[in-house]
Amino acid sequence: MIKIDLTGCKSFESKREQYFEKAMAAFDVLESAQGAGNDFLGWNHLPSEMPQQLLDDCKAVAESWKEKNVNLVVAIGIGGSYLGAKAAIAALAHNFSVNIDADPVQVVFAGNTLSEDYMADLVDLMKIRNVAAVVISKSGTTTEPAVAFRIIKGFIEDKYGKKEAAERIVAVTDKARGALKSLATSEGYKSFVIEDNIGGRYSVLTPVGLVPIAAAGFDIDALLAGARDMEALCSSKSADNPAIQYAAARNCMYDEGKKVELLVNYNPKLVYFSEWWKQLFGESEGKEGKGLFPASVSYTTDLHSMGQYVQEGERVMFETVVSVKNPARKVEIPSDADNLDGLNYLAGKRIEYCNEKAMLGTRLAHIDGGVPQITVETETLDAYHLGGLFYFFEKACGISGYVLGINPFNQPGVEAYKKNMFALLGKPGYEELAKELAKRL
Ligand code: PA5
Repeated sequence: MIKIDLTGCKSFESKREQYFEKAMAAFDVLESAQGAGNDFLGWNHLPSEMPQQLLDDCKAVAESWKEKNVNLVVAIGIGGSYLGAKAAIAALAHNFSVNIDADPVQVVFAGNTLSEDYMADLVDLMKIRNVAAVVISKSGTTTEPAVAFRIIKGFIEDKYGKKEAAERIVAVTDKARGALKSLATSEGYKSFVIEDNIGGRYSVLTPVGLVPIAAAGFDIDALLAGARDMEALCSSKSADNPAIQYAAARNCMYDEGKKVELLVNYNPKLVYFSEWWKQLFGESEGKEGKGLFPASVSYTTDLHSMGQYVQEGERVMFETVVSVKNPARKVEIPSDADNLDGLNYLAGKRIEYCNEKAMLGTRLAHIDGGVPQITVETETLDAYHLGGLFYFFEKACGISGYVLGINPFNQPGVEAYKKNMFALLGKPGYEELAKELAKRL
């Protein structure tokens, strides 16, 4: 299901035992719920404990919208309340689905930016499509999705009437607190609960991710089945546990002076998976002046832009390659009688053959250039394996954070910008800070 190759981290070999021990101790802390942030471990056994009814309820929302011929679902949320769904849909969809599917339900995202242009363009799209929306906010008070939802809710009510709007809007939020909860209750929206013990970046396998993913037409049962099998695979305190292997190796790289972990893909469908991964590790580990900086590249595309830096720039990085063993589709390079482009030596070969050679060649070049490499190989890119990948990285992140010695489940630093923004926006209660900031601007 997943294969971790650490042979590209030469220096790790001699420190293997030491780092496996650290990662296994961290695994114990996680499993025994004795560590910092232990009230946020609801994700850990979520796949095996997920009630089928909850999955069925998420699918029922998608079905009810289909019956109304909805062809545009706006998923409103930011950070952990959108990145998982975005990653999954991008990974599973046809690259050109909007242009090619006969009857596509397009899921687009909003509330993840304060760009006015973006919202105006979205309104243009909503005008010509049959629209539903899912608004996702654990706190129910985050500014970006709240602003977007006010506009989108108003649009849907104007277009379909208030009663019909209530059937086209679903909320995913806290069970009791927050403005979104009160609003959803008073408007009679179908609501899903985000449990208290699951933080945003660990929530892709809850209705936060599952409602939009189901609405896009993907198999959330398979997604959960993959996560469940990965949960079992990552459940032993042993050097065979892939999450322990990855957590051990990346902490070793960090202790050796690497500052940046580049998540590498060779398939553009994984670009947003990298964005999800960046939030997961960045928000979990970047605290107390510590933590690897999570960055990402898409090869071979970025070998023609970032490749020079990776090969010869500051030697502060290592790579983690998410490698997909079997592509879902097959395209061969044809033979050409004239061979004017000189490519006949590749005639009859699959494009994936070239991709694989590029991957191997890059691996050797980068290792030679001082960029060690971890490889995480998955069989293929379908809902089952994607579910496995989500869970694998969540588990590894929990373990890795404890090896690093921080609380991997809080995000105190995210509040700083919010306070300043509220003060500058004139939010009641922030008057003193507003005065202080005004002097500095
Ligand atoms: O991971 C996190 O906790 C954050 O990224 C949140 O998901 C993000 O800030 C959105 O918060 P909320 O869901 O409360 O609107």
